[in-house]
Amino acid sequence: MHNFTYWSPTEVVFGKDTEQQVAHYVKKYGGSKVLLVYGGGSVKQSGLLDQVIGLLEEAGLAYAEFGGVQPNPTVEYAREGVAKAIEFGADFILAVGGGSAIDTAKGIAHGAANPDVDIWKFWSREVEVEKSLPVGVILTIAAAGSETSASSVLTNRETGSKRGLDNVAFNYPKFAIMNPELTFTLPVYQIACGVTDIMMHTLDRYFNPLDNKLTDAIAEALLRTVIANGAVAVKEPNNYEAMSEVMWCGSVSHNGLTGLGGIGDFAPHQLGHELSAMFDIAHGASLSVVWGDWADYVCHAKLSRFVRYARNVWNITEGSEEEIAQAGIRATVDYFKSIGVPTCFSEAAEIGVQSEEVLADLTERCTFQGTRTIGSFQELDGEDILNIYRRVNR
Ligand code: NZQ
Ligand code: ZN
Repeated sequence: MHNFTYWSPTEVVFGKDTEQQVAHYVKKYGGSKVLLVYGGGSVKQSGLLDQVIGLLEEAGLAYAEFGGVQPNPTVEYAREGVAKAIEFGADFILAVGGGSAIDTAKGIAHGAANPDVDIWKFWSREVEVEKSLPVGVILTIAAAGSETSASSVLTNRETGSKRGLDNVAFNYPKFAIMNPELTFTLPVYQIACGVTDIMMHTLDRYFNPLDNKLTDAIAEALLRTVIANGAVAVKEPNNYEAMSEVMWCGSVSHNGLTGLGGIGDFAPHQLGHELSAMFDIAHGASLSVVWGDWADYVCHAKLSRFVRYARNVWNITEGSEEEIAQAGIRATVDYFKSIGVPTCFSEAAEIGVQSEEVLADLTERCTFQGTRTIGSFQELDGEDILNIYRRVNR
Protein backbone atom coordinates (compact mmCIF):
# COMPACT_ATOMS: atom_id res chain seq x y z
CA MET A 1 0.00 0.00 0.00
CA HIS A 2 1.25 3.41 -0.93
CA ASN A 3 1.38 5.96 1.92
CA PHE A 4 -1.71 8.12 2.20
CA THR A 5 -3.57 10.63 4.31
CA TYR A 6 -7.34 10.54 4.23
CA TRP A 7 -9.56 13.42 5.24
CA SER A 8 -13.11 13.74 4.04
CA PRO A 9 -14.49 16.64 6.07
CA THR A 10 -17.67 17.53 4.14
CA GLU A 11 -20.85 17.04 6.16
CA VAL A 12 -23.22 15.07 3.95
CA VAL A 13 -26.93 15.65 4.45
CA PHE A 14 -28.64 13.03 2.32
CA GLY A 15 -32.26 12.31 1.46
CA LYS A 16 -35.73 13.63 0.77
CA ASP A 17 -36.45 17.27 1.67
CA THR A 18 -32.95 17.84 3.05
CA GLU A 19 -32.71 21.17 1.18
CA GLN A 20 -35.16 22.48 3.82
CA GLN A 21 -32.24 22.50 6.26
CA VAL A 22 -30.04 24.78 4.19
CA ALA A 23 -30.23 27.84 6.47
CA HIS A 24 -29.30 25.74 9.50
CA TYR A 25 -26.16 24.49 7.78
CA VAL A 26 -25.16 27.89 6.44
CA LYS A 27 -25.35 29.28 9.98
CA LYS A 28 -23.57 26.27 11.43
CA TYR A 29 -20.57 27.05 9.22
CA GLY A 30 -20.54 30.76 9.98
CA GLY A 31 -22.49 32.25 7.09
CA SER A 32 -24.53 35.43 7.44
CA LYS A 33 -24.17 36.98 3.96
CA VAL A 34 -24.61 34.30 1.33
CA LEU A 35 -23.67 34.47 -2.34
CA LEU A 36 -25.86 31.99 -4.23
CA VAL A 37 -24.04 30.50 -7.22
CA TYR A 38 -26.03 28.58 -9.82
CA GLY A 39 -26.08 27.57 -13.47
CA GLY A 40 -27.92 28.48 -16.63
CA GLY A 41 -31.47 28.20 -15.37
CA SER A 42 -32.49 24.69 -14.29
CA VAL A 43 -32.78 25.70 -10.63
CA LYS A 44 -35.03 28.59 -11.60
CA GLN A 45 -37.25 26.38 -13.73
CA SER A 46 -37.55 23.71 -11.05
CA GLY A 47 -38.44 26.26 -8.36
CA LEU A 48 -35.49 25.19 -6.20
CA LEU A 49 -33.86 28.61 -6.26
CA ASP A 50 -36.99 30.38 -5.03
CA GLN A 51 -37.36 27.79 -2.34
CA VAL A 52 -33.77 28.28 -1.15
CA ILE A 53 -34.12 32.06 -1.19
CA GLY A 54 -37.31 31.76 0.88
CA LEU A 55 -35.52 29.59 3.43
CA LEU A 56 -32.57 32.01 3.71
CA GLU A 57 -34.93 34.98 4.13
CA GLU A 58 -36.96 33.17 6.74
CA ALA A 59 -33.77 32.52 8.72
CA GLY A 60 -32.70 36.17 8.49
CA LEU A 61 -29.74 35.47 6.20
CA ALA A 62 -28.77 38.14 3.66
CA TYR A 63 -28.12 36.88 0.14
CA ALA A 64 -27.08 37.94 -3.34
CA GLU A 65 -27.31 35.92 -6.55
CA PHE A 66 -24.70 34.92 -9.09
CA GLY A 67 -26.36 32.75 -11.75
CA GLY A 68 -25.49 31.94 -15.34
CA VAL A 69 -22.58 29.55 -14.76
CA GLN A 70 -22.16 27.39 -17.88
CA PRO A 71 -20.98 23.75 -18.08
CA ASN A 72 -17.17 23.58 -18.35
CA PRO A 73 -17.12 26.80 -16.30
CA THR A 74 -14.60 29.50 -17.07
CA VAL A 75 -12.21 31.44 -14.92
CA GLU A 76 -13.38 34.55 -16.74
CA TYR A 77 -16.90 34.10 -15.35
CA ALA A 78 -15.65 33.08 -11.92
CA ARG A 79 -13.74 36.39 -11.78
CA GLU A 80 -17.07 38.19 -12.22
CA GLY A 81 -18.38 36.17 -9.30
CA VAL A 82 -15.42 37.22 -7.20
CA ALA A 83 -16.22 40.88 -7.90
CA LYS A 84 -19.85 40.26 -6.98
CA ALA A 85 -18.91 38.49 -3.73
CA ILE A 86 -16.59 41.32 -2.71
CA GLU A 87 -19.11 44.03 -3.60
CA PHE A 88 -21.79 42.24 -1.56
CA GLY A 89 -19.44 41.45 1.31
CA ALA A 90 -20.24 37.73 1.16
CA ASP A 91 -18.96 35.56 4.00
CA PHE A 92 -20.38 32.30 2.61
CA ILE A 93 -20.68 30.88 -0.92
CA LEU A 94 -23.60 28.51 -1.57
CA ALA A 95 -23.58 26.52 -4.82
CA VAL A 96 -26.95 25.23 -6.00
CA GLY A 97 -26.34 22.92 -8.94
CA GLY A 98 -23.69 20.56 -10.28
CA GLY A 99 -19.95 20.46 -10.70
CA SER A 100 -19.87 23.64 -12.75
CA ALA A 101 -21.67 25.75 -10.15
CA ILE A 102 -19.71 24.13 -7.32
CA ASP A 103 -16.30 24.60 -8.95
CA THR A 104 -17.16 28.22 -9.73
CA ALA A 105 -18.26 28.67 -6.11
CA LYS A 106 -14.89 27.31 -4.95
CA GLY A 107 -13.11 29.74 -7.27
CA ILE A 108 -15.19 32.64 -6.01
CA ALA A 109 -14.48 31.66 -2.40
CA HIS A 110 -10.73 31.68 -3.05
CA GLY A 111 -10.89 34.96 -4.95
CA ALA A 112 -13.07 36.80 -2.46
CA ALA A 113 -10.73 35.82 0.39
CA ASN A 114 -7.67 36.92 -1.62
CA PRO A 115 -8.80 40.06 -3.45
CA ASP A 116 -5.28 40.99 -4.53
CA VAL A 117 -4.67 37.73 -6.42
CA ASP A 118 -6.02 36.93 -9.89
CA ILE A 119 -7.65 33.53 -9.26
CA TRP A 120 -6.13 31.85 -12.32
CA LYS A 121 -2.80 32.05 -10.49
CA PHE A 122 -4.18 29.41 -8.09
CA TRP A 123 -5.04 27.12 -11.01
CA SER A 124 -1.73 27.76 -12.81
CA ARG A 125 0.10 26.92 -9.55
CA GLU A 126 1.81 30.31 -9.39
CA VAL A 127 0.18 31.05 -6.02
CA GLU A 128 -0.93 28.66 -3.27
CA VAL A 129 -4.43 29.08 -1.77
CA GLU A 130 -3.84 29.88 1.90
CA LYS A 131 -7.24 31.20 2.87
CA SER A 132 -10.75 31.00 1.46
CA LEU A 133 -14.42 31.49 2.32
CA PRO A 134 -16.62 28.57 3.38
CA VAL A 135 -18.59 26.88 0.57
CA GLY A 136 -21.81 24.87 0.92
CA VAL A 137 -23.61 22.82 -1.73
CA ILE A 138 -27.12 21.83 -2.68
CA LEU A 139 -26.49 19.19 -5.35
CA THR A 140 -28.80 18.81 -8.36
CA ILE A 141 -26.86 16.28 -10.49
CA ALA A 142 -24.93 13.14 -9.58
CA ALA A 143 -21.73 13.41 -11.59
CA ALA A 144 -18.56 15.35 -10.88
CA GLY A 145 -18.30 14.58 -7.17
CA SER A 146 -17.20 18.15 -6.46
CA GLU A 147 -19.62 18.21 -3.53
CA THR A 148 -17.17 16.12 -1.50
CA SER A 149 -13.95 16.52 -3.50
CA ALA A 150 -10.79 18.51 -2.87
CA SER A 151 -10.77 19.62 -6.47
CA SER A 152 -12.08 22.44 -8.61
CA VAL A 153 -11.83 22.49 -12.41
CA LEU A 154 -11.94 25.71 -14.42
CA THR A 155 -11.31 26.54 -18.07
CA ASN A 156 -9.30 29.55 -19.16
CA ARG A 157 -10.93 30.65 -22.41
CA GLU A 158 -8.03 32.98 -23.22
CA THR A 159 -5.39 30.23 -23.14
CA GLY A 160 -7.77 27.39 -24.05
CA SER A 161 -6.69 25.34 -21.04
CA LYS A 162 -8.84 23.37 -18.61
CA ARG A 163 -7.13 22.82 -15.27
CA GLY A 164 -7.93 21.11 -11.99
CA LEU A 165 -6.85 22.65 -8.72
CA ASP A 166 -6.44 20.14 -5.89
CA ASN A 167 -6.34 21.60 -2.40
CA VAL A 168 -7.24 19.50 0.61
CA ALA A 169 -7.18 22.46 2.97
CA PHE A 170 -9.60 24.75 1.13
CA ASN A 171 -11.53 22.93 -1.61
CA TYR A 172 -13.78 20.66 0.45
CA PRO A 173 -17.26 22.11 0.84
CA LYS A 174 -18.40 22.45 4.46
CA PHE A 175 -21.63 20.62 3.72
CA ALA A 176 -23.32 18.89 0.82
CA ILE A 177 -27.10 18.64 0.79
CA MET A 178 -28.05 15.74 -1.46
CA ASN A 179 -31.71 15.07 -2.20
CA PRO A 180 -31.99 12.60 -5.12
CA GLU A 181 -35.41 14.07 -5.97
CA LEU A 182 -33.67 17.29 -7.02
CA THR A 183 -32.18 15.37 -9.97
CA PHE A 184 -35.56 14.31 -11.37
CA THR A 185 -35.60 17.23 -13.84
CA LEU A 186 -32.30 16.16 -15.46
CA PRO A 187 -32.20 15.40 -19.19
CA VAL A 188 -31.36 11.71 -19.72
CA TYR A 189 -28.10 12.60 -21.50
CA GLN A 190 -26.90 14.47 -18.41
CA ILE A 191 -27.75 11.48 -16.21
CA ALA A 192 -25.68 9.29 -18.55
CA CYS A 193 -22.76 11.73 -18.54
CA GLY A 194 -22.91 11.75 -14.74
CA VAL A 195 -22.92 7.95 -14.50
CA THR A 196 -19.91 7.88 -16.82
CA ASP A 197 -18.00 10.43 -14.77
CA ILE A 198 -18.72 8.51 -11.56
CA MET A 199 -17.41 5.31 -13.17
CA MET A 200 -14.36 7.16 -14.41
CA HIS A 201 -13.50 8.64 -11.01
CA THR A 202 -13.34 5.08 -9.76
CA LEU A 203 -11.64 3.57 -12.83
CA ASP A 204 -9.00 6.30 -12.98
CA ARG A 205 -7.99 5.30 -9.44
CA TYR A 206 -8.52 1.54 -9.87
CA PHE A 207 -6.18 1.23 -12.85
CA ASN A 208 -2.93 1.97 -11.08
CA PRO A 209 0.28 -0.04 -10.65
CA LEU A 210 -0.56 -1.27 -7.12
CA ASP A 211 -2.99 -3.87 -5.75
CA ASN A 212 -4.84 -3.10 -2.51
CA LYS A 213 -7.40 -5.54 -1.24
CA LEU A 214 -9.89 -3.34 0.62
CA THR A 215 -9.60 -0.31 -1.64
CA ASP A 216 -9.96 -2.42 -4.78
CA ALA A 217 -12.98 -4.26 -3.37
CA ILE A 218 -14.66 -0.94 -2.48
CA ALA A 219 -13.97 0.34 -5.99
CA GLU A 220 -15.42 -2.81 -7.58
CA ALA A 221 -18.56 -2.66 -5.42
CA LEU A 222 -19.04 0.98 -6.33
CA LEU A 223 -18.62 0.21 -10.03
CA ARG A 224 -21.14 -2.64 -9.94
CA THR A 225 -23.59 -0.41 -8.09
CA VAL A 226 -23.33 2.62 -10.35
CA ILE A 227 -23.42 0.49 -13.52
CA ALA A 228 -26.61 -1.34 -12.46
CA ASN A 229 -28.41 1.68 -11.04
CA GLY A 230 -27.21 3.99 -13.80
CA ALA A 231 -28.85 1.70 -16.35
CA VAL A 232 -32.12 2.02 -14.42
CA ALA A 233 -31.81 5.79 -13.91
CA VAL A 234 -31.44 6.59 -17.63
CA LYS A 235 -34.67 4.66 -18.31
CA GLU A 236 -36.54 5.87 -15.22
CA PRO A 237 -35.16 9.29 -14.28
CA ASN A 238 -37.64 9.57 -11.39
CA ASN A 239 -36.66 6.28 -9.77
CA TYR A 240 -35.72 7.45 -6.28
CA GLU A 241 -33.90 4.28 -5.21
CA ALA A 242 -31.79 4.08 -8.36
CA MET A 243 -30.90 7.76 -8.25
CA SER A 244 -30.08 7.55 -4.55
CA GLU A 245 -27.51 4.85 -5.29
CA VAL A 246 -26.05 6.79 -8.22
CA MET A 247 -25.86 9.98 -6.17
CA TRP A 248 -24.07 8.38 -3.25
CA CYS A 249 -21.72 6.58 -5.64
CA GLY A 250 -20.94 10.00 -7.13
CA SER A 251 -19.70 11.38 -3.84
CA VAL A 252 -17.83 8.28 -2.68
CA SER A 253 -16.21 7.89 -6.10
CA HIS A 254 -14.42 11.19 -5.78
CA ASN A 255 -13.81 11.79 -2.07
CA GLY A 256 -10.63 9.72 -2.24
CA LEU A 257 -11.90 6.50 -0.67
CA THR A 258 -11.82 4.41 -3.85
CA GLY A 259 -8.13 5.05 -4.42
CA LEU A 260 -6.52 4.92 -0.97
CA GLY A 261 -3.12 3.27 -1.01
CA GLY A 262 -2.92 3.40 -4.79
CA ILE A 263 -1.36 5.89 -7.19
CA GLY A 264 -4.17 7.43 -9.22
CA ASP A 265 -3.78 7.26 -12.99
CA PHE A 266 -6.23 9.87 -14.29
CA ALA A 267 -4.86 9.76 -17.84
CA PRO A 268 -8.39 9.48 -19.34
CA HIS A 269 -9.37 12.60 -17.38
CA GLN A 270 -6.38 14.48 -18.77
CA LEU A 271 -7.14 13.31 -22.33
CA GLY A 272 -10.78 14.29 -21.86
CA HIS A 273 -10.12 17.72 -20.37
CA GLU A 274 -8.44 18.82 -23.61
CA LEU A 275 -11.52 17.72 -25.55
CA SER A 276 -13.82 19.73 -23.28
CA ALA A 277 -11.51 22.75 -23.51
CA MET A 278 -11.40 22.62 -27.33
CA PHE A 279 -14.90 21.39 -28.19
CA ASP A 280 -16.96 22.25 -25.08
CA ILE A 281 -18.21 18.66 -24.86
CA ALA A 282 -19.83 17.57 -21.56
CA HIS A 283 -17.21 16.27 -19.15
CA GLY A 284 -18.63 12.73 -18.82
CA ALA A 285 -18.87 12.38 -22.61
CA SER A 286 -15.26 13.53 -23.02
CA LEU A 287 -14.27 10.54 -20.87
CA SER A 288 -16.41 7.86 -22.53
CA VAL A 289 -14.96 9.04 -25.87
CA VAL A 290 -11.40 8.17 -24.88
CA TRP A 291 -11.70 5.36 -22.34
CA GLY A 292 -11.97 2.29 -24.61
CA ASP A 293 -8.98 3.24 -26.74
CA TRP A 294 -6.95 4.28 -23.70
CA ALA A 295 -7.70 0.89 -22.10
CA ASP A 296 -6.76 -0.98 -25.27
CA TYR A 297 -3.51 0.98 -25.51
CA VAL A 298 -2.35 0.46 -21.91
CA CYS A 299 -3.85 -2.88 -20.86
CA HIS A 300 -0.64 -4.88 -21.40
CA ALA A 301 1.19 -2.71 -18.88
CA LYS A 302 -0.52 -4.97 -16.31
CA LEU A 303 -3.02 -7.31 -17.89
CA SER A 304 -3.89 -8.94 -14.55
CA ARG A 305 -5.55 -5.72 -13.45
CA PHE A 306 -7.85 -5.71 -16.47
CA VAL A 307 -8.59 -9.41 -15.91
CA ARG A 308 -9.54 -8.71 -12.32
CA TYR A 309 -11.73 -5.81 -13.44
CA ALA A 310 -13.54 -7.97 -16.02
CA ARG A 311 -14.11 -10.76 -13.50
CA ASN A 312 -15.15 -8.74 -10.48
CA VAL A 313 -17.12 -5.95 -12.14
CA TRP A 314 -18.55 -7.61 -15.25
CA ASN A 315 -18.56 -11.23 -14.08
CA ILE A 316 -16.62 -12.36 -17.17
CA THR A 317 -14.87 -15.64 -16.42
CA GLU A 318 -14.59 -17.59 -19.68
CA GLY A 319 -11.49 -17.55 -21.88
CA SER A 320 -7.79 -16.83 -21.68
CA GLU A 321 -6.49 -13.92 -19.60
CA GLU A 322 -6.17 -11.85 -22.79
CA GLU A 323 -9.73 -12.68 -23.85
CA ILE A 324 -11.16 -11.88 -20.41
CA ALA A 325 -9.36 -8.55 -20.26
CA GLN A 326 -10.54 -7.59 -23.75
CA ALA A 327 -14.10 -8.66 -22.94
CA GLY A 328 -14.06 -6.36 -19.86
CA ILE A 329 -13.00 -3.42 -22.02
CA ARG A 330 -15.68 -4.23 -24.58
CA ALA A 331 -18.34 -4.58 -21.89
CA THR A 332 -17.47 -1.12 -20.60
CA VAL A 333 -17.62 0.45 -24.06
CA ASP A 334 -20.90 -1.35 -24.82
CA TYR A 335 -22.31 -0.07 -21.54
CA PHE A 336 -21.38 3.50 -22.47
CA LYS A 337 -23.15 3.02 -25.82
CA SER A 338 -26.20 1.55 -24.08
CA ILE A 339 -26.66 4.63 -21.89
CA GLY A 340 -26.15 6.95 -24.85
CA VAL A 341 -22.70 8.48 -24.39
CA PRO A 342 -20.16 8.61 -27.26
CA THR A 343 -17.21 6.21 -27.50
CA CYS A 344 -15.17 7.82 -30.32
CA PHE A 345 -14.90 11.22 -32.01
CA SER A 346 -17.48 10.59 -34.73
CA GLU A 347 -20.09 9.60 -32.15
CA ALA A 348 -19.67 12.93 -30.36
CA ALA A 349 -21.71 15.64 -32.12
CA GLU A 350 -19.42 18.37 -30.71
CA ILE A 351 -16.25 16.75 -32.07
CA GLY A 352 -16.47 14.65 -35.27
CA VAL A 353 -13.46 13.26 -37.11
CA GLN A 354 -10.51 15.67 -36.88
CA SER A 355 -7.40 16.48 -38.94
CA GLU A 356 -3.92 15.32 -37.94
CA GLU A 357 -3.14 18.95 -37.17
CA VAL A 358 -5.89 19.14 -34.54
CA LEU A 359 -4.70 15.87 -32.99
CA ALA A 360 -1.20 17.32 -32.72
CA ASP A 361 -2.61 20.47 -31.12
CA LEU A 362 -4.59 18.40 -28.58
CA THR A 363 -1.44 16.45 -27.78
CA GLU A 364 0.62 19.60 -27.33
CA ARG A 365 -1.98 20.94 -24.90
CA CYS A 366 -2.32 17.63 -23.04
CA THR A 367 1.44 17.51 -22.42
CA PHE A 368 1.35 21.14 -21.24
CA GLN A 369 3.51 22.09 -24.23
CA GLY A 370 5.80 19.11 -23.87
CA THR A 371 6.48 19.59 -20.18
CA ARG A 372 4.65 16.60 -18.68
CA THR A 373 3.63 13.00 -19.10
CA ILE A 374 0.28 11.66 -17.86
CA GLY A 375 -0.85 8.47 -16.16
CA SER A 376 0.63 6.03 -13.68
CA PHE A 377 -0.81 2.68 -14.84
CA GLN A 378 1.28 3.34 -17.93
CA GLU A 379 3.08 6.62 -18.14
CA LEU A 380 2.12 8.28 -21.42
CA ASP A 381 4.32 10.78 -23.24
CA GLY A 382 3.42 12.97 -26.21
CA GLU A 383 3.84 10.14 -28.72
CA ASP A 384 1.53 7.84 -26.72
CA ILE A 385 -1.04 10.59 -26.29
CA LEU A 386 -1.05 11.31 -30.02
CA ASN A 387 -1.42 7.58 -30.73
CA ILE A 388 -4.46 7.39 -28.46
CA TYR A 389 -6.09 10.49 -29.98
CA ARG A 390 -5.46 8.93 -33.43
CA ARG A 391 -7.23 5.73 -32.41
CA VAL A 392 -10.19 7.64 -30.96
CA ASN A 393 -10.40 9.70 -34.18
CA ARG A 394 -12.81 7.42 -36.06
O1 NZQ B 1 -26.77 25.13 -15.84
P1 NZQ B 1 -28.08 24.50 -15.53
O2 NZQ B 1 -29.23 25.19 -16.15
O3 NZQ B 1 -28.26 24.24 -14.06
O4 NZQ B 1 -28.08 23.05 -16.28
C1 NZQ B 1 -27.14 22.04 -15.97
C2 NZQ B 1 -26.10 21.84 -17.07
O5 NZQ B 1 -26.62 22.18 -18.32
C3 NZQ B 1 -27.85 20.73 -15.99
N1 NZQ B 1 -28.46 20.38 -14.70
C4 NZQ B 1 -27.86 20.20 -13.51
N2 NZQ B 1 -28.76 19.81 -12.60
C5 NZQ B 1 -29.97 19.77 -13.23
C6 NZQ B 1 -29.78 20.15 -14.58
N3 NZQ B 1 -30.79 20.20 -15.47
C7 NZQ B 1 -32.01 19.88 -15.04
N4 NZQ B 1 -32.26 19.48 -13.77
C8 NZQ B 1 -31.27 19.40 -12.85
N5 NZQ B 1 -31.53 18.95 -11.61
O6 NZQ B 1 -26.85 19.76 -16.27
C9 NZQ B 1 -25.85 20.36 -17.07
C10 NZQ B 1 -24.50 19.96 -16.51
O7 NZQ B 1 -24.26 20.59 -15.26
P2 NZQ B 1 -22.79 20.61 -14.68
O8 NZQ B 1 -22.80 21.31 -13.39
O9 NZQ B 1 -21.87 21.11 -15.74
O10 NZQ B 1 -22.53 19.04 -14.49
P3 NZQ B 1 -21.43 18.21 -13.75
O11 NZQ B 1 -21.81 18.00 -12.33
O12 NZQ B 1 -21.18 17.05 -14.60
O13 NZQ B 1 -20.12 19.15 -13.71
C11 NZQ B 1 -19.20 19.13 -14.76
C12 NZQ B 1 -18.03 20.02 -14.44
O14 NZQ B 1 -17.33 19.53 -13.28
C13 NZQ B 1 -15.96 19.30 -13.61
C14 NZQ B 1 -16.03 18.96 -15.07
O15 NZQ B 1 -14.79 19.03 -15.71
C15 NZQ B 1 -17.02 19.98 -15.57
O16 NZQ B 1 -16.41 21.23 -15.74
N6 NZQ B 1 -15.38 18.30 -12.72
C16 NZQ B 1 -15.16 18.67 -11.45
C17 NZQ B 1 -14.54 17.82 -10.54
C18 NZQ B 1 -14.28 18.24 -9.16
N7 NZQ B 1 -14.44 19.52 -8.85
O17 NZQ B 1 -13.90 17.42 -8.31
C19 NZQ B 1 -14.07 16.49 -10.94
C20 NZQ B 1 -14.59 16.01 -12.24
O18 NZQ B 1 -13.69 15.06 -12.78
C21 NZQ B 1 -14.83 17.07 -13.26
O19 NZQ B 1 -13.64 17.40 -13.95
ZN1 ZN C 1 -14.54 13.59 -13.80
